[in-house]
Amino acid sequence: MVVSEIRTIGVVGLGAMGAGIAQLTIEARYETIGREVTEELGHQARGRIAHFLQRKVDKERMSAADRDAALVHLSLTTELADLADCDLVIEAIVEDLDAKRALFAELEGIVRPNAILATNTSALSVTEIAAAVELSARVVGMHFFNPAPLMPLVEIVRAELSSDDAVETAYAVGERLGKRPIRCHDTPGFVVNRVLIPVLNDCLRVLDEARVSPEDLDTAMTAGAGWPMGPCTLVDLVGIDVHVHASEALYEKLREPRMAPPPRIVAMKNAGLLGRKSGRGFYVYE
Ligand code: CAA
Repeated sequence: MVVSEIRTIGVVGLGAMGAGIAQLTIEARYETIGREVTEELGHQARGRIAHFLQRKVDKERMSAADRDAALVHLSLTTELADLADCDLVIEAIVEDLDAKRALFAELEGIVRPNAILATNTSALSVTEIAAAVELSARVVGMHFFNPAPLMPLVEIVRAELSSDDAVETAYAVGERLGKRPIRCHDTPGFVVNRVLIPVLNDCLRVLDEARVSPEDLDTAMTAGAGWPMGPCTLVDLVGIDVHVHASEALYEKLREPRMAPPPRIVAMKNAGLLGRKSGRGFYVYE
């Protein structure tokens, strides 16, 4: 498979990350088939994509004709079997190893033998996901950052058995999506999360150690360290459950205390304070 042969991309899971990825693929004019478990969730994702494209039109960063042309490239399904003709499938479902392995095993029975299977996992092992399929050379990581349409990076992750073709094709797709891809190997947290997760956990520990408010901690890191958004705002954006899960996954692999999620944020997760998506985390959202 070479990149010119990638015409149709499947995106499985249209939550915040999957919808953002599908927005990118339709903006790059790939035929895109988005799969959600219910029609309602699929329609919500389409609405979210249409909203963000409209904002680009409002800000004169996109023409109305380009918005319409992009949206034509998106079709929705609840059936995995509808991904049979996809040249590349990007998985963005829940961060659960068993769920991802089951999905990849099922996808292998549906797509062509030369189709590439990519996971957007942020903290699980791509190699462990790839081990669920027979042709594991076709599996790579394509790790996008939240919000996917805005963050320029995509980590192209080589699992132990990934083929050069699969890695280079995913890299080239990343470029066509307008991203700045990097290549890396499948190690816990890859590049960014290996650095960012412990740093964010340090920030959250400072909340209690320095008895600083979330607002003041955010001001400290934006006004004093040049971050584009403060750590509390960022964890709210990423999702407190997602951050706790990624921290636990990295702690399990690396056994470094800084990787472990601070108790305060685990308690927030257990209380259902998940950040923006639940309406309340460190901040309250309308
Ligand atoms: N999808 C699509 N478009 C979106 C969006 C989304 N999720 N969220 C916002 N937008 C659009 C909106 O239209 C918004 O404009 P309006 O509010 O007017 O509608 C527009 O983007 C904002 O664009 P701007 O160019 O004005 O963006 P900004 O200068 O305010 O920067 C930012 C926003 C890029 C998010 C910036 O604050 C930033 O870089 N923050 C840091 C984010 C970060 O670190 N992300 C990584 C998280 S870690 C991770 O993702 C790893 C993991 O595995 C968990």
